[in-house]
Amino acid sequence: MSKIEPSELSFDEFDEIDNSRRQESDFDVVVEEALSRRGFMGGVLAFGTASFLMGTSALTPAHAKGRFAFEAVPASTEDTIVVPKGYKWQTLVNWGDPLWSKGAAFDQTTRGTGESQETAFGDNNDGMALFSAGEGRMVLAVNNEYTNRSIMYGNRETKLPETADDVRKGKAAHGVSVFEVKQADGKWSVVKDSSYNRRITADSPMDLTGPAAGNDMLKTAADPTGTKSLGTWNNCGNGRTPWGTYLACEENFNGYFSSSDEDIELPEAFKRYGIKTKDWGYAWGKFDDRFDISKNPNEPNRAGYIVEIDPLDPKSTPKKRTGLGRFKHENAEVDVAANGKIVVYMGDDERGEYLYKFVSSDVYVPGGDTSTLLDKGTLYAAKFNAEGKGEWLALTPETTGMASAAEICIHTRMAALAVKATTMDRPEWVASNPKKAEVYCALTNNKNRGKKANKGGDPMPVDGPNPREANKYGQIVRWRPEGGDHTATGFTWDLYVLAGNPAVHTGAGDLNAGSRNVTTDNFFNSPDGIAFDSVGMLWIQTDGKYSNKGDFEGMGNNQMLVGDPVTGEIRRFLTGPKECEVTGITFSPDRRTVFVGIQHPGEKGDSHFPDGGKTVPRSCVVAITREDGAVIG
Ligand code: FEO
Ligand code: CA
Ligand code: CA
Repeated sequence: MSKIEPSELSFDEFDEIDNSRRQESDFDVVVEEALSRRGFMGGVLAFGTASFLMGTSALTPAHAKGRFAFEAVPASTEDTIVVPKGYKWQTLVNWGDPLWSKGAAFDQTTRGTGESQETAFGDNNDGMALFSAGEGRMVLAVNNEYTNRSIMYGNRETKLPETADDVRKGKAAHGVSVFEVKQADGKWSVVKDSSYNRRITADSPMDLTGPAAGNDMLKTAADPTGTKSLGTWNNCGNGRTPWGTYLACEENFNGYFSSSDEDIELPEAFKRYGIKTKDWGYAWGKFDDRFDISKNPNEPNRAGYIVEIDPLDPKSTPKKRTGLGRFKHENAEVDVAANGKIVVYMGDDERGEYLYKFVSSDVYVPGGDTSTLLDKGTLYAAKFNAEGKGEWLALTPETTGMASAAEICIHTRMAALAVKATTMDRPEWVASNPKKAEVYCALTNNKNRGKKANKGGDPMPVDGPNPREANKYGQIVRWRPEGGDHTATGFTWDLYVLAGNPAVHTGAGDLNAGSRNVTTDNFFNSPDGIAFDSVGMLWIQTDGKYSNKGDFEGMGNNQMLVGDPVTGEIRRFLTGPKECEVTGITFSPDRRTVFVGIQHPGEKGDSHFPDGGKTVPRSCVVAITREDGAVIG
């Protein structure tokens, strides 16, 4: 390993350190496969005639008339947000803003303390959802995924947590922020001191529920029952249930564990999940034995789940739903199938990991008991075949050879490997079309595609929905469940878009130019957050390279676009400030406001967003409205 300090590495770079093992399979064969697949796919994308393009209209040129209420914005490298003409934006809440009047305002010099952070909006906001609390009141639940150590601890010489209070601050900056919001005179604000306001952090009590609850692998000295854990962290994307709860999805939970004994032997399962003797610079294990795996070897088994939270009951105990599996969860897209069963689609965001769905055993009855709906059911992993068909493979003791449902829920990656599911190009958010049974998943990028195996040793050949070697730009795959039934095991699939750079890659059939609905007016890389609005348009947020050079020249900062699922047209709606990621989206009930997350502006040191001058860059939620007050789009 190099001398790079962990605080300077992005998640992607950490992942590369984790994933440095060479593929064992014959490299020449992989290359040959990649080339022939490329030729095949090139033809498909040029003419749009292959069976796995669902309807040739998907790739209609971008000048076609569409259902867009706005004029596209150009790419930008400015340190601000740009929205279309006739739209405006404001910040709603920034990292460190107090949610109660007793809390101190954000201190630009110290960047807060443990105490101030515990009563303030957390850092690096990601997924979010707005809930109606009745009588016109509205409550926003927002994930606070992680912290950039060099920003949070920019007051320290090492730019890392140095004291117990630094770690207290870091833990409090993670988790979920829940607070009431209101709009007055056209401006949105946080309702300080609302009875709904709540901070859930890395230390908040939670229940473990579902098949793995009480399993020996979940028991610790502090919790011999294996049913009560503390805290949630690295909550990335989100979900919401039809019964009004919020789902916070634990992603890179592994990077917080370390070992005071560096010589301990790491079990295979720890390696598969990236748990090591060193953490990623958070230092939690230094001040809290829970995160020291030599002292608490089962603690990592209690993270990596989806947490269900009642946003309207601040006294409720969040539930870690082990039935939804343990992996690096991105988001959770919930559908109610025609027969009333709950279907949850979920991605595992790491190179060559899998796409999952959960189908409940019980049916959802509006107004009925929903307390165990996400505890009892079957997990499936997706297998994509090259001919545009696919199937969901059930993960059961019989199909996986694993001992129990509990083991499958704890070591879900191994279960998916056992049934030979398809290794994907980093499955990020999944979004289900409200207008028809059709589901989309952003596959953000995968530089190891066609080059290395995943962490379980499963090869990543260039194939099917992952058609490019060393995939730089990402793509969005979509599938239609057989018979329009989300519980069906069969599906058909196609690619909605292959992101790319048509200005740089001009050779005939070069897949890096992107699919035909990508032009120099709308190009982008690394689709990540995706969500449908209520009229069936797909909002696409990016977390990609913002160098604006080489392969990424002309793309500018990260951005948000809107795609028409019918015509395939994609238009850029927003550009973010420097070095940010655009992630998290939710709409007001009247669709006149869209809330959007701006995460880690200035992650490499070159932004002062949103306050400008020489201020500390801060992640924030922004509210976007139209100047004429009409619906967003
Ligand atoms: Fe937290 Fe996969 O993004
Ligand atoms: Ca993401
Ligand atoms: Ca991402």
